[in-house]
Amino acid sequence: MSHQTVIVLDFGGQYNQLIARRVRECGVYCEVRPYTTPLSTLKAMEPIGIIFTGGPNSVYLEDSPQADPEIFTLGVPILGICYGCQLMAHQLGGRVTAAQDDSAREYGKTVTYFDGNCKLFRGLPETGITWMSHGDYMEKVPEGFALTAHSDACPNVAIADEARRFYGVQFHPEVDHTQHGVDMIRNFLYEACHATGDWTMEDYKRTAVAALREKIGDGKVLLALSGGVDSSVAAALLAEAVGEQLTCVFVDHGLMRKDEGDEVEAAFSQWAMNFLRVDAEDRFLAKLAGVSDPERKRKIIGEEFIRVFEEAAKKVGAVEFLAQGTIYPDVIESGTGNAAVIKSHHNVGGLPDHVDFKEIVEPLRSLFKDEVRQLGRELGLPEYLVMRQPFPGPGLAIRVIGDVTKDKLDTLREADAIFREEIVRAGLERDMDQYFAVLTNMRSVGVMGDGRTYDHTLALRSVTTSDFMTADWSRIPYEILDKVSVRIVNEVKGINRIVYDITSKPPATIEWE
Ligand code: XMP
Repeated sequence: MSHQTVIVLDFGGQYNQLIARRVRECGVYCEVRPYTTPLSTLKAMEPIGIIFTGGPNSVYLEDSPQADPEIFTLGVPILGICYGCQLMAHQLGGRVTAAQDDSAREYGKTVTYFDGNCKLFRGLPETGITWMSHGDYMEKVPEGFALTAHSDACPNVAIADEARRFYGVQFHPEVDHTQHGVDMIRNFLYEACHATGDWTMEDYKRTAVAALREKIGDGKVLLALSGGVDSSVAAALLAEAVGEQLTCVFVDHGLMRKDEGDEVEAAFSQWAMNFLRVDAEDRFLAKLAGVSDPERKRKIIGEEFIRVFEEAAKKVGAVEFLAQGTIYPDVIESGTGNAAVIKSHHNVGGLPDHVDFKEIVEPLRSLFKDEVRQLGRELGLPEYLVMRQPFPGPGLAIRVIGDVTKDKLDTLREADAIFREEIVRAGLERDMDQYFAVLTNMRSVGVMGDGRTYDHTLALRSVTTSDFMTADWSRIPYEILDKVSVRIVNEVKGINRIVYDITSKPPATIEWE
């Protein structure tokens, strides 16, 4: 695929993926690479521009990450952000020191004044809020650089060497708090790097289909379809590329939400490919009978899933390729996790041991989540599938607290469907990132009509989050909660009490198990 490419050189900052997403949003393809990547590799990518990210270090300390000095001789425009800006100043002969007095150390929203003659700020207001987060200060800027922005506390918020097309900003243009930040990135791309904006999903679809056809030839491809956004879009792309050479195995474990299995099946009926829906509800429920420990449930479901998938694969026969819906954030993040295991997060779609294949194909490997959704639309997948909220691999089994039975699952499915329906009806679904119902294993006394009830308590959970690592509970208006509550206790048998979960993550997690 021959798109113009920008390299985001990663110095360990927390917003690196965000920078990459912003560049892509501007219609320019980019990849995140660690700062240790050999210069020969970077050169081979023929970048039209390079962005140095922020990072937690101080450039003047020994062992702080540095760029290969030769990078400044490539004739490629460079934008340094925060640490990246200081690094450029430091390596090109300027001087960076720890800010001596508090006023030069800046954190948070800062009023900033821009020089509109600088390409980076061209066409933008001369004053705006920027998001700062730095304790170091550029005491002396390198030769050839001009100061192009300042704040009340700091004379050198941005620097530029227009001749070499090197730019540096102490603030973070990629975060929402910086006004016109994306415009600055766009200016860098289009004014300094002369980007043509050749990264569009329509174009990506075309080139990806052609590349898949070439790679797969007349081979057979097998894909485990979970009904989630990533595996669905991967399936649609492969179906578009190789049609009947593709077999999608959709393991229906009976732990899906209401009507979900049928919806997935319907969405794929538009392609001439092999869609294998395996009804394995009984098998999963038998294995789960009497099990109430969340981690054991996950393990059982993960293992059973692989077993069912392997059996189905055997029926399909020899395949050359196993397809996976890996997306770019998985690629960037893989291998960095040293965190304690809170939940094992067994993902349906892990690699089976007993399926013979020659190669793995991962057609979404270079896409961010919002790009995956866009591609799904481009391929003609329905909106409800493309915008589907994340759903855990173990499904409703970890939303029925305690042991799992078909009755409990059916009760939960009905209640969950009502909750989701009312959220959509109220137009709130874009304001929350995940919302669902949980069937607790607590029962309490109620009164209905003239009779006593002793039924389950249902919990509603809704969160807003950008990364699912931390999350806040959604402030759903009381009237909507009331409507949901009234409908559920009236329409769903076995539930007589509704509670709303008002804990953030941490200390709670998003799911209850
Ligand atoms: P927690 O509950 O850890 O969830 O705050 C964070 C995100 O991960 C999803 N989740 C899972 N996804 N297998 C998955 O594929 C799992 O076992 C699993 N457990 C939680 C959860 O829905 C949320 O989006």
